[in-house]
Amino acid sequence: MNKIPDFQSWKAQGQPITMLTCYDYAMARLLARTAVDALLVGDSCAMVIHGFPDTVHATVDMMALHTAAVRRGAPAKLVIADLPFLSYRAGTGRAIEAVDALMKAGANAVKLEGARGNEELITHLVASGVPVMGHLGLTPQSVQVLGGYRTQARTTDQAARLIEEALALEDAGCFAVVLECVPVEVAERVTRALRVPTIGIGCGPAVSGQVLVINDLLTMDPDFRPRFVRAYAEIGPQLVEAAQRYCEDVVQGRFPATGEFVSEPALAETGIDQ
Ligand code: KIV
Repeated sequence: MNKIPDFQSWKAQGQPITMLTCYDYAMARLLARTAVDALLVGDSCAMVIHGFPDTVHATVDMMALHTAAVRRGAPAKLVIADLPFLSYRAGTGRAIEAVDALMKAGANAVKLEGARGNEELITHLVASGVPVMGHLGLTPQSVQVLGGYRTQARTTDQAARLIEEALALEDAGCFAVVLECVPVEVAERVTRALRVPTIGIGCGPAVSGQVLVINDLLTMDPDFRPRFVRAYAEIGPQLVEAAQRYCEDVVQGRFPATGEFVSEPALAETGIDQ
């Protein structure tokens, strides 16, 4: 299994880091066969798995359940779990309980959003043995404050603040920082400013690694195709087509066919229906 200190070595060696979200056992079993460096049980599961409009609806119980399923499916992968909305803002005691639930469910590390007001908690968690990944730029848990899912740090002032926040996360002890939807120039400056790696989503190539939501990479939702996602497969449309063909075959009497069920000809003679 990859280890948390590997992140810093990968950055030092210029080795790009790969991370994908993963929410369930079946997907984890498949991703376990790949070279992906880390699986992120993202709170995006509230949206892509549970159908909520935003990640605000994720809960500690939800995240723990998905983390445990991913751990069972990928026992040898590094698993990072998102701390859900407000679970780390209601005092250290509540935050520790949330972290404890995720780590006991199988996470190797946790991720939380934003820097302001989180520095002390991060220092405390790291000192307590919990690796913490930061998340800056478009922080979906703050979607109401941000006014939507849009590119962040587009002005000089905002870019300077983002770099300060990234440095604050590094100082607090984060082993890596996710950067979401910031201009490529800003992502590059943050990456150069930090010793720890940046993992980008919608930030271009000048970061230490990339993360994507697995559902987007697979095109599970054909109606959602963000510009920054490359669709490596069209599973959603293929699934629709497969399910449609199955329905037609059943209705037309083409499924099940010979070889797709058990036949014991002798039983036809036994009169078991009498
Ligand atoms: O929850 C999530 O999927 C994430 C990624 C977008 C980084 O935080």
